[in-house]
Amino acid sequence: MAVSQTNFAWATLLAVRATGSAGAPNRRLHDRLAQALRTAIRDGRLPEGAAVPPSRALAEELGCSRWVVTEAYGQLTAEGYLSARVGSATRVAWSPRTAPPRPTAPRAPAPPPVRYDLAPGLPDLRAFPRRRWAEAVRAVTGSAVHYDLGLPDPAGHPELRGTLAQYLRRSRGADAHPGSVTVCAGVTDGLVRACRALRERGIADVAVEDPGWGRLRTAATSAGLRVHPVPVDGDGLRVGGLARTPARAVIVGAAHQFPTGAVLSPDRRAGLVRWAREVDGFVIEDDYDAEFRYDHHPVAVMQGMDPGRVFLLGSVSKTLSPALGLGWLLAPAALAPGLRAANPVAAAPPVLDQLALAAFIDRGWFDAHLRAARRRFRARRDLLVGTLAGELPQARVSGTAAGLHVLLHLPPGADPRATVRAAAAAGLRLSDLDDYRVAPSPDPALVLGYGNLTDPEIGPAVALLRDALR
Ligand SMILES: Cc1ncc(COP(=O)(O)O)c(C=O)c1O
Repeated sequence: MAVSQTNFAWATLLAVRATGSAGAPNRRLHDRLAQALRTAIRDGRLPEGAAVPPSRALAEELGCSRWVVTEAYGQLTAEGYLSARVGSATRVAWSPRTAPPRPTAPRAPAPPPVRYDLAPGLPDLRAFPRRRWAEAVRAVTGSAVHYDLGLPDPAGHPELRGTLAQYLRRSRGADAHPGSVTVCAGVTDGLVRACRALRERGIADVAVEDPGWGRLRTAATSAGLRVHPVPVDGDGLRVGGLARTPARAVIVGAAHQFPTGAVLSPDRRAGLVRWAREVDGFVIEDDYDAEFRYDHHPVAVMQGMDPGRVFLLGSVSKTLSPALGLGWLLAPAALAPGLRAANPVAAAPPVLDQLALAAFIDRGWFDAHLRAARRRFRARRDLLVGTLAGELPQARVSGTAAGLHVLLHLPPGADPRATVRAAAAAGLRLSDLDDYRVAPSPDPALVLGYGNLTDPEIGPAVALLRDALR
């Protein structure tokens, strides 16, 4: 029995072939017609209420016997997809929207929405300088030369490398020149590149701070290094602990350790550089939020003390937004060839974004943004610390000198995990210091981020924290 493929609407809609279709070559024609109608109804191409053609008309259009069509209609009526009433047209009686929901496994109740977010990690996203960033993007889109739109330099656009070198020299005391800067997608990306270069040089073990940001450990491991936790105290990394590991490299937050907020003491800075020279090793300095130091001028980077031994990593994740994915890496000159060899397919971020950041810095907008952000964060830190002192006199705050978070030491015996759970049930997001520790510690503490919280939210957030602690 031939089914005409020349008929348009219904033949096309139903796509029934007399010769059968792949997967069901021998199915009878009325079964295939029923299946085609069922599919068209299920996916909404034949909407509920639509009349299907009289059987004679459809049979003519499809070039088949009327029996084929009445069989198919009868089948679908029995299944509830069509309804046939004497004296009126057969109509579609089903729609995907009115279909009874399929039984699903019972879902866990959704967690209550976050009303106040005191977890660390974000800057003030409401204060992103949208207008000036858009102006920078517009300007460089107009001024970029044709050559800029070609294949990008994997180490970063020379313009941004020059701007960053100058910025890092003047504001972070770094030993930087355009040739030593690699533009990357952020600290994490830069760390993977640096660790691969170390691996290339035969270094297989790296020390990390404990507690520390787990993502740094993961980045080092993903680059093929073994990580060795070394404890941190109020003066930063305990440099003496390095000798107990086989590491010849260390990742350290010297200006503001995460999550303790400790600033590496001058003695330990000197000790760390000495250690690197003694073991013929390297220091990887994570300068992630050092622009925000409130009580003194920002501490200069360690990289300036020995640029031949210290890598410097930074990004705009804490100053502008992590969504930009823009960062930098300064590598010791001796490792520059290894850096390229170890990361042969690494690409720099999109060129227009790089040029926009260069313009944003060159026009003085980055400095202006940092000055305003520093003022705002200092005032917010003071407000948070003052509110905590009033509401939780039994707890102690530390790590307040810089950055966008503080540490709240809870009274002995407090259960930070239970506190985080109780707070979450009330819509307050908190972070337990234990989440960043490798070795367990008996000192209960919470890491409180205040970057992405408005000032008026601090009072109610701390009141919820007080209730959760009870
Ligand atoms: C310790 C530490 N380093 C670096 C970063 C920034 O990483 P990235 O530049 O990859 O966003 C963060 C962000 O939370 C951090 O906590």
